[in-house]
Amino acid sequence: MAANPARAPSGGGSPPPRHVAIIMDGNGRWAKARFLPRIAGHKQGVDAVRRVSRAARKLGIEVLTLYAFSSENWRRPEEEVRDLMGLLRHFLASELDELVSEGVKLRVIGDWRGLSGDLVAMIDAAIARTVDNPGPTLVIALNYGAQAEILAAARRLAEQARDGTLDPVSIDEARFEAELETADLPPLDLLIRTSGEQRLSNFLLWQAAYAELLFVDTLWPDFNEDTLAEAIGQFGRRQRRFGGL
Ligand code: FPP
Repeated sequence: MAANPARAPSGGGSPPPRHVAIIMDGNGRWAKARFLPRIAGHKQGVDAVRRVSRAARKLGIEVLTLYAFSSENWRRPEEEVRDLMGLLRHFLASELDELVSEGVKLRVIGDWRGLSGDLVAMIDAAIARTVDNPGPTLVIALNYGAQAEILAAARRLAEQARDGTLDPVSIDEARFEAELETADLPPLDLLIRTSGEQRLSNFLLWQAAYAELLFVDTLWPDFNEDTLAEAIGQFGRRQRRFGGL
């Protein structure tokens, strides 16, 4: 996951992003503006997930990582959490055939094994059905928190050091990244957050070290092929220096 200077262009803008991540924000405000319940915004949000993952495939994006439920989202009212889990079940049931036929590899990051048993079984089955697909990869972050991901990696390395199987001196960025859930994915190139908020909310904190950040005002339910293409266009005009000149 290290920033890859080999992909830094010698002049002009950046080559197309291989890995794009999105903090899908603004479902609630989309619903509120229409005097609708929040669940209506989340339903439109799922339509946007469908639309945008198709568009990302068309644009040749290798990995699309979507922040669907954070480890902090449990603080929402019980009814909303239940609705979000219901939408997730529906998404898995209704989209899996298309993901399989399109060759998409589904990955889930976060503490998703802590979700309810039936959902864990559905996710397990969905991952198993797509595991041999060539890609692109759709990564859904569920019950995900970057700090917890980093802590878990640090803990595993510390345990290996304690057991004498790892020399602490050998822990460098690459060794650390190998312990993260995104270990075998291409480096994160572009991180988009919708709805005008400008923060990372505990999402991919390590991976975002050299990512381009893009904050767009569009609410997630309104995000579509055109807004994604516009975001990719903006990325292309950025100069990525990876600490160089
Ligand atoms: C943020 O909007 C959105 C979420 C916390 C959930 C995102 C979930 C989906 C798009 C649907 C489920 C996803 C999949 C992959 C099936 P918000 O509710 O915080 O909006 P607000 O800030 O306007 O209130």
